[in-house]
Amino acid sequence: MSTWANLGLQDSASPLMEQLIFFHVHALLILVMITVLVGYLMVMLFFNSYVNRFLLHGQLIEMIWTILPAIILLFIAMPSLRLLYLLDEINEPSITLKSIGHQWYWSYEYSDFNDMEFDSYMIPTNELSNDGFRLLDVDNRIVLPMNSQIRILVTAADVIHSWTIPALGVKVDGTPGRLNQTNFFINRPGLFYGQCSEICGANHSFMPIVIESVPVNYFIKWISDKVNS
Ligand code: CUA
Repeated sequence: MSTWANLGLQDSASPLMEQLIFFHVHALLILVMITVLVGYLMVMLFFNSYVNRFLLHGQLIEMIWTILPAIILLFIAMPSLRLLYLLDEINEPSITLKSIGHQWYWSYEYSDFNDMEFDSYMIPTNELSNDGFRLLDVDNRIVLPMNSQIRILVTAADVIHSWTIPALGVKVDGTPGRLNQTNFFINRPGLFYGQCSEICGANHSFMPIVIESVPVNYFIKWISDKVNS
């Protein structure tokens, strides 16, 4: 999760988020190079007084400074498209989780396990335990097996919500009447926090998401207890 003064991306917990971070760094590097070059040129132009009285046109330089930026943009567009299709790829998921956005809480369904379902509300600040995270912890966490492909289906019951978990590189809109799909692979155990990221009404800030990533045998125990209760 994000902690104090963490202004960058969170540590990745999935291969897709790792790729997203690589792409972010790549794009940022190009951005820095362009900023430095343009900054240098601007400073040099401001602080000299040379005038070329005979300069009316320059076909060659115009060609160069039109085509060069286009090529630089290709270097961003190609990896960007690769990532876009990579994020959309479904790779034989082991289980499916359905999350439904409501005003203002999430509900979840494990369709593979006897349609087990539950609601997940934020824990209000006055009911929070000492080790809880304010505005981020929920009463019923999603438990998922690590090292497994997981498909998630996202929809909403009232207005548009967005199921967003930064550490996993997942951000899918839940839209009434539509069923959106994505998948991810959690490569370590732990708690992963997320929040709704579509402005969905008064309590938009108070419908967080918590994933508890556990080894597969722990998950099987949890799900069988849950289904049998
Ligand atoms: Cu749900 Cu914002």
